[in-house]
Amino acid sequence: MKDSLLSLDVNGQSHRLDVPADTRLIYVLRNDLCLNGPKYGCGLGECGACAVLVDGRAVRSCAIGAKTVQRHRIVTLEGLGSAENPHPVQRAFIEMQAAQCGYCLNGMIIATVALLNSTPQPDESQIRQALKYHLCRCGTHMEILAAVRRAIVLTAELQAETPS
Ligand code: FES
Ligand code: FES
Repeated sequence: MKDSLLSLDVNGQSHRLDVPADTRLIYVLRNDLCLNGPKYGCGLGECGACAVLVDGRAVRSCAIGAKTVQRHRIVTLEGLGSAENPHPVQRAFIEMQAAQCGYCLNGMIIATVALLNSTPQPDESQIRQALKYHLCRCGTHMEILAAVRRAIVLTAELQAETPS
């Protein structure tokens, strides 16, 4: 397919890219912008490893064309926080050591941020529903759930400290 000029807003920066018009978002993020937070798992929209935030909602970047998210605000794992200053959800996952291989964690963290964006105090069933279609082949589900519960606390604390 013919190349087309894309304009993407990723992690607060504007990018102009010349890529084939049907390129999926994950390839633009990983190959053109060198953002390797989103992981390539199934490539079919089923595992959640490739999730990113689009206007604050979790979207599977392997399953959508980059063209369709022009004029939307895209945030990847890298855009949430840094090693020195992690996002509260990232902090919670580190504190709870919620990883074995870590391959699923991008999606778990992005799904948790999206959940807390829409529902700051989710109950257990809302947490489980939000993570239901994110696969972890290592079986760290219990630690991941504990990390989400910790993220709720850390996010609430941060909001209480932030002057309105
Ligand atoms: S790699 Fe996108 S959902 Fe599995
Ligand atoms: S920690 Fe390995 S896939 Fe989840």
